[in-house]
Amino acid sequence: MGNCASSLIQGLEYYKGVDGNSPPVSGIMHNVIGGYRLSDIKVAAAFDVDRRKVGKDVSEAVFAEPNCTIRFSSVPKTGVEVLKGPVLDGIGETTKDFFIADPRQKPVSVRKALEDSGAEILVNYLPVGSEQAVRFYVQEALDAGVAVVNCIPVFIASDPAWGNKFKERGIPIIGDDIKSQVGATITHRVLAKLFADRGVKIERMYQLNFGGNADFLNMLERSRVKSKKISKTEAVQSNLPAPMPGDQIHIGPSDYVPFMKDKKVCYLRIEGKKFGDVPVTLECRLDVEDSPNSAGIVVDAIRCAKIALDRKTGGPLTSASAYFMKHPAQQFPDDVCREMVEEFIAGKRER
Ligand SMILES: NC(=O)c1ccc[n+]([C@@H]2O[C@H](COP(=O)([O-])OP(=O)(O)OC[C@H]3O[C@@H](n4cnc5c(N)ncnc54)[C@H](O)[C@@H]3O)[C@@H](O)[C@H]2O)c1
Repeated sequence: MGNCASSLIQGLEYYKGVDGNSPPVSGIMHNVIGGYRLSDIKVAAAFDVDRRKVGKDVSEAVFAEPNCTIRFSSVPKTGVEVLKGPVLDGIGETTKDFFIADPRQKPVSVRKALEDSGAEILVNYLPVGSEQAVRFYVQEALDAGVAVVNCIPVFIASDPAWGNKFKERGIPIIGDDIKSQVGATITHRVLAKLFADRGVKIERMYQLNFGGNADFLNMLERSRVKSKKISKTEAVQSNLPAPMPGDQIHIGPSDYVPFMKDKKVCYLRIEGKKFGDVPVTLECRLDVEDSPNSAGIVVDAIRCAKIALDRKTGGPLTSASAYFMKHPAQQFPDDVCREMVEEFIAGKRER
């Protein structure tokens, strides 16, 4: 029930009138996917550990502190109360005074809550570095027969052992680590590929990111960021004809600036050599509200997961994971995986 969940749930209300007959609206890629509108996505259950959210209706929890993302829509009462999940490693060193868990509130059985709610798809929006907590929630989802959209860089869909578990149970999963609508990763991937496609040899590059939300505060704890750096770096490296030497590429979360709230700034620099080995440098500054940037993609991922459920397709979804996520099991150039997703939606490819 953090900032990204807030944007996602606001979006369900914001776009509730949009259907197949509406003209294309700004902010979403498809009005309808596989017959599903945004208004077909319903919140069935919700979990958090923060006492300011637990026990509240989802409509209140999404605006509760420390959430700080932009409010672009009201959210009507949902009748769904936020349940307490186990804390495990969800709260880190830098967030221990920021996320306030009350030990008097006891965790529920997540598996049972999922089953009782009739949930079909679990969206994981835990803090980066929640290795145990993610594995816990994903196993509960598997046990409850619920599909998963894994928005964070704890490797599940891209881990063959976990991928097989989903395949064996016939449950779809899309992951890992959501690739934002127009975020640092997709911008960096596209610009780096432009250099490569135009015959420019990239010598070195960096991508520095900072912001003022809980995600950036959490990522000040360097040990929690290991998988985030892997995910972000591989997302760019995999799109180049050959990987660059590790010491010539630096990508990662860089700092926390509290007054920026949910605003995120990315500085991107690519240095290369063009015709005659003459140098060329590109500098780019991207300024975004962080959380709607992920939500705009997750609404499509949820609908693709639902299509897979309808078709009884289990295991990691190759096309949706490659297009929507930074760290899929298999990477493809963005134009290729977009085509693959369109084919999947149209029923022309299995996964
Ligand atoms: N914004 C983006 O574009 C983007 C892109 C890629 C990945 N992500 C990832 O999505 C995740 C969510 O981002 P956010 O901005 O919403 O983060 P956030 O910090 O606002 O929300 C995290 C929420 O998890 C709760 N939590 C902590 N431990 C928990 C537990 N054990 N069980 C249940 N809830 C627990 C916290 O109380 C908080 O409400 C982060 O890992 C972020 O890195 C975001």
